[in-house]
Amino acid sequence: MSERVIIFDTTLRDGEQSPGIALDAAEKLEIAEQLARLGVDYIEAGFPVSSQGDFEAVQGIARVVGRDGGPVIAGLSRTHRADVDRCWEAVRDAARSRIHVFISTSPQHMEHMLKMTEAQVIAETRSGVGRAREHTADVEFSPQDATRTPLDFMMQVLEAAVEAGATTLNIPDTVGYGIPWDFGALIQYIGREIKGDYVLSTHCHNDLGLATANSLAGVAAGARQVEVCVNGLGERAGNAALEEVVMALQIRADQFPGLSTGVRTEELARTSRLVSRLTGYPVQFNKAVVGRNAFRHESGIHQHGVLAERTTYEIIDAGTVGQTGSQIVLGKHSGRHAFSDTLAKMGLTISGDALNAAFARFKELADRKVEITDADLEAIVAEELGSSVEPTFTLDALEVVGGTVG
Ligand code: KIV
Ligand code: ZN
Repeated sequence: MSERVIIFDTTLRDGEQSPGIALDAAEKLEIAEQLARLGVDYIEAGFPVSSQGDFEAVQGIARVVGRDGGPVIAGLSRTHRADVDRCWEAVRDAARSRIHVFISTSPQHMEHMLKMTEAQVIAETRSGVGRAREHTADVEFSPQDATRTPLDFMMQVLEAAVEAGATTLNIPDTVGYGIPWDFGALIQYIGREIKGDYVLSTHCHNDLGLATANSLAGVAAGARQVEVCVNGLGERAGNAALEEVVMALQIRADQFPGLSTGVRTEELARTSRLVSRLTGYPVQFNKAVVGRNAFRHESGIHQHGVLAERTTYEIIDAGTVGQTGSQIVLGKHSGRHAFSDTLAKMGLTISGDALNAAFARFKELADRKVEITDADLEAIVAEELGSSVEPTFTLDALEVVGGTVG
C-alpha cells in the first residue's frame, strides 16, 4: 500500500494572483470542476476576505465541487479573527473544508510590512490557528517567507502553530529563494524537530526556475503535501507546476519509493488547456508535460529513433497525460525516414529516384520555410511524379475582356 502525496492545488488562489488574471465566479467554478475530475486532494479556492466576489466564488465552489466524495475545499486567511471567520463562512458548506492561516515571519516582511515583534507574531499565530480550530479540525498554517526566516524563530512559530492545533505545516518558499538540497534539509529538520501530529507541506515559487525541483526535494525529505498550480501559474514567476511535480513523482517512482498521488494524469492536458483559455495565459510551446512541443520531434536523428521505437526519445507516453502521441514535425532538421513516413501516412507513394528528388526539393524548401504543410508535400510529390497524382482541377480556358465604362 503506497503512501499518498497530497496534491494541494492553489491555481484558484495563488495562480489567480498572477498579474492580469481575474477570474469570475463561473470561470473559477469551471476550473474547480475540472480539478476535481483531475483528482486533486485539495482545492484552495481563494482568499475570501479579499473581496465580496472572491468570497462568493469560494462559497460556490464549496457548495458545488466540495460535495461528498469531492476534494477538500480550502480558503486562505490572515490571522485576524474576522478574516478567519470570513474564510470559514466561505468554505463551511463543503463536505470537507480547510482553513489555511498564514503570517509573515521573515525580517524583511516583519520590519517593512507587519511591523510586529517576534513575540507578537507568535501570539498572532496562536490566536489565528486557535480560532480556525474552533471552526474545523483541518487547519493549515504557513510562516510566509519561511526560507528567509531565521531558523530558531521559525521553529518557535511552528511549535506555537502545532500547539494551537495546526494539522498541516506548510513551508512557503515565498520568493523562490530555495535551492533543492537546502530546501530539502530545511524540511527534514522541521520534520525531525517539531513534534506532533501534522503533515509537512511545500509551497515553492519559481523565481530561480527551481520550484518543481524544490518541491520534489521537500517530498524526498518527508513532506507529504505539495502546493502547486496548473501550468505553473502564480505570483511573479509562478508556483511549482502541478503537471511537472505529479509526473516526476510518477515517472521517477524509483526515487520516491512507496509514494503516489491520486491524480488522473490523462486529465492533465485538458486541465492545462482549460486554465490557459480562461486565464488568458498561453502555455509556452516547450512547457514540460503539457506544452504543444512536449511530444514533437523535429530533428532527423530523433525522428528516426521515435519512428523505430517511441522510448528512444520519450520518457512519457503522451496518452498518459492526455496529449496526442509522438508527432513528427517536418522541418530543416528532418531526415529521409520521417519524410517518407509522413508521405506514406498521407497516402502518397513514392520511391527510388523520385523519392530522392522529392527529398532534395523538400530540404531546399525547409531551409526557407519554418513549417512544411501537407499542401507543400503534395506539391513536391506531384511535381516529381507528374501526372500520377490526381490534379485538383484543370484550367481548360481563360478569357479576358477589357473596355471602359461611361
Ligand atoms: O507564497 C506564499 O508564501 C503564499 C502563502 C500565502 C502560503 O502564497
Ligand atoms: Zn505563494
